[in-house]
Amino acid sequence: MTSATLTSRTIVCSDPAATSRLGSALAEVAGPGDLICLWGDLGAGKTHFAKAFGAALGVIDVIVSPSFVLMAEYQGRLPLFHLDPYRLADAADALAGGLIDDRQGVGVTLLEWPERLGDALPEGRLDVRIEGAGDDPRTIVLVAGSPAYRRYLEAAR
Ligand SMILES: Nc1ncnc2c1ncn2[C@@H]1O[C@H](COP(=O)(O)OP(=O)(O)OP(=O)(O)O)[C@@H](O)[C@H]1O
Ligand SMILES: [Mg+2]
Repeated sequence: MTSATLTSRTIVCSDPAATSRLGSALAEVAGPGDLICLWGDLGAGKTHFAKAFGAALGVIDVIVSPSFVLMAEYQGRLPLFHLDPYRLADAADALAGGLIDDRQGVGVTLLEWPERLGDALPEGRLDVRIEGAGDDPRTIVLVAGSPAYRRYLEAAR
């Protein structure tokens, strides 16, 4: 399959370090305005992925689960916005008005629990779907929602 037609890619991450390697590899091609949605059940590894992604982006601060704030902002090679609307009842309403506001346009956004946004999720995004739990290997499916996001599929390893 050529890169022109590649819209998804599946990577098996047998341990947490493998998931970190994938997060680091994807961060290398991150650009301003990008939206990366992290799908997966409780404990799937969304925040684990975000920590590695942030570290590779040059974030020095420790990335924690932003469960009790809607959005945490970190400074790396470009700004990193980390959102977790899981426990925020009205998050969907709050975000629906503009998930990518002017500020987020200069950085890359990682969104946990993207299902909370429903129809407000833009099509221009990379989906990172993490399947598996506990100590089991994770199967991670990357889906490019628009051609601009295909470079993430090529960068995955
Ligand atoms: N292959 C793997 N990839 C990622 N994490 C793994 C893997 N194997 C085991 N783990 C463990 O699974 C846990 C994932 O926790 P994490 O906080 O990242 O989940 P989460 O998806 O963010 O959950 P929540 O929705 O509760 O925020 C970590 O303790 C991590 O070490
Ligand atoms: Mg989390």
